[in-house]
Amino acid sequence: MERVIIDCDPGIDDSLAIMLALKSPEIEVIGITIVAGNSPVELGFMNAKRILKFLGRLDIPVYAGADKPRIRDYVNALDTHGEDGLGESFLPEVEGQNVPEKSAVEFMKETLREGDVSVIALGPLTNLARLIDEDTDAFLLIKRLVSMGGNFKSHGNCSPVAEYNYWEDPDSARLVFNTLYEHHRKIEMVGLDVTRKIVLTPEILDEMKMVNPQVGDFVEKITGFYFKFHWEWEHIRGCVINDPLAVAQFINPEILKGFEAYTDVETSGISMGQTVVDSCGFYRKESNAIVFTEVDKSAFWSMFITRVLNIETSKYAERFGQYCKL
Ligand code: RIB
Ligand code: CA
Repeated sequence: MERVIIDCDPGIDDSLAIMLALKSPEIEVIGITIVAGNSPVELGFMNAKRILKFLGRLDIPVYAGADKPRIRDYVNALDTHGEDGLGESFLPEVEGQNVPEKSAVEFMKETLREGDVSVIALGPLTNLARLIDEDTDAFLLIKRLVSMGGNFKSHGNCSPVAEYNYWEDPDSARLVFNTLYEHHRKIEMVGLDVTRKIVLTPEILDEMKMVNPQVGDFVEKITGFYFKFHWEWEHIRGCVINDPLAVAQFINPEILKGFEAYTDVETSGISMGQTVVDSCGFYRKESNAIVFTEVDKSAFWSMFITRVLNIETSKYAERFGQYCKL
C-alpha cells in the first residue's frame, strides 16, 4: 500500500476523489490537508468531514492549511461548487469535529520526514509552497507528487489560458515547479487537457443510482449543482470531474499518457496562472513536470465505477458496457 496525503479544497470533485481514494486498496490515506480554494479553508475542512462521515471514515485525520493564496487576494469557486462548497447539498455539520491545533503544514512535515509518503494535490498549491518555505527537505522527501492543475493545449477554466488551482495561487504553483526544477524532481501534472475528457453524464449517474442507490443518490446530491453550472456555462451535459483522475493516475500510471517538459507558471498579467509548458525545449532546461495529454477513459470509468459503487465488475458489465469494460 502506498501512503498518501490528499491535499484538497472540497469541493465537489475533490469529494469524488476522496471517495475513490478511500475505496482503493492500493493506497492508504494517512491524512487529508485542506487548502483555501473552491471553498474557504474552514468550510473545506467541514466538507472533508462530511464526506468522511458518509464513507464511515472519520478515523482519517483532517488538518486545516492556508486560508489564502501566497500573494494574490483569495478568490473562491463557490459559484461553481455552490454556497456550501458541496453542490448546495447542505449536508449537516459533523458533530465534534473541530479543527485540530496541528496545521496542515506541520502534519505534512512530520509525516513526510517518516519517509515513503506521496502527495496527491487536488487544489491550489499554497500548502505545498508553505511547506517549501518552512522545510524544503521535507518537501523533497515527497515520494510522488501528483497534482490536478494546469493545462497544456486545453483552454483554461478561469481565463483563456489558466486553470483554477494554479490561477487562484500562481505564486505558490510557480514556487513548487521551480523548487522541483532546482532539485531535479518532477510533478505529475494532471491538467485540463485530460480531465476535461472525464465527464460524469446523466446516463452514467442514472446507472450508478440504479446499481448502488445509497452511493448513487449521494453523488447526485453533491453533483446536481455542478451539472447545472456546466450546462449553463459550457453547454456540457453532465460535469467534468477533474480531481478523481489525479487519484486514478496515482493508482494506475497507465491511465494517462504524456511527456516530460520544463514547465513554469506565469504569476501576473493577462495570462496569470498559465502553465507555460516548454514542449519544444526552447529553454534548454531539464524537465520538472510530466504533462499528461491522453487518457484511457474506459480504464478510468472502470476503476471509478467499480470502486466508488463497490460492485462486482462481471455482474454489471452490460449496464456500463458503453462507458467502460467492466
Ligand atoms: O480547475 C479544476 C480544479 O479546481 C479542481 O481541482 C476543482 O476542484 C478546483 O479545485
Ligand atoms: Ca479541487
